[in-house]
Amino acid sequence: ARAQDLAGWRVVVSAGPTREYLDPVRFISNPSSGKMGYAVAEEARDRGADVTLVSGPVQLPPPAGVRTVPIESALELRAAVLEAARGADLVVMTAAVADYRAAEQAQEKQAKVAGDVTVHLTPNPDILAELGREKGDRLLVGFAMETHAGVERAAAKAARKNADFILLNYPTRQGTGFGGDDNEVTLVRPDGTSDAWARTSKREVARRLLDEARRLRD
Ligand code: PMT
Repeated sequence: ARAQDLAGWRVVVSAGPTREYLDPVRFISNPSSGKMGYAVAEEARDRGADVTLVSGPVQLPPPAGVRTVPIESALELRAAVLEAARGADLVVMTAAVADYRAAEQAQEKQAKVAGDVTVHLTPNPDILAELGREKGDRLLVGFAMETHAGVERAAAKAARKNADFILLNYPTRQGTGFGGDDNEVTLVRPDGTSDAWARTSKREVARRLLDEARRLRD
C-alpha cells in the first residue's frame, strides 16, 4: 500500500550533529550519528518523494537518489534548511542542533593557559521554530531528546514551535537514540496526546513517521 505513496512530495530532512567551532581546531558537538535522519531520507526516497538531506558531519555515505547538502554549524544548517524548505511539503528535523555557539570564534588556535578558562556562548537560532512561524500548509515534524517529563515537555515544544508532531526519544536507553540502529519513540502532538511506539529499527520509525505525515495531509 505504501509503494510510491509520496510521489510528487518534496521532503526536506536534517540529520546529524552540528559543530560549533571555538577556534580552528576545537568545537562543541554531540554524538548524533545521522542514522535516524538518513533512514527518513531513504524511506521517503523509496516511496517516491523528491528528497533533500541537510547533513552534519557523519560517517554514513550520502544516499543514492537523494540531494545531500553537507553543513557543519547550526547557522549553515539553518541557511540550507530554509532554502530547501521553500516549496517543500514536509520538513523533518532530526538534526541534533547545538543550542549555543561561541560568541566569538577565534581565527587562530588558542594557546593553552594555566588554570581555568571561560568560553562565552551565544544562543543559536531555533530552526524548527522559525519554520513553524511561516508554516503555510507545509507539514513540520521535530524530534526531541528529553531525560525527564518527556511527554509534557515535547508537547509544549510542539505547540510552541508549531510542529504537527514531535517524536520524543531518550538519551539513556541502550541501543536507541544517539548512534543506535533502533529507536524507541513516543509520538507527541501539540494538544498533549501521545502514542508510545515499541522499540524498533530507525527505518521502521521512519516508515511510521511518514505514514503519520500522509494521514495528516489526506
Ligand atoms: O543521529 P542519530 O545517532 O540516529 O540519533 C538520532 C537523534 C537522537 C539525534 C534524533 O532522534 C533526535 O532526537 N534529534 C533531535 C535532538 C534534539 O536536538 O532535540 P531538541 O529537543 O534539542 O530539539 C527539538 C527539535 O528542535 C529538534 O527537531 C531539533 O532538530 C530542533 N532544533 C533544535 C535546536 C535548534 N537551534 N534548532 C532546531 O531546529
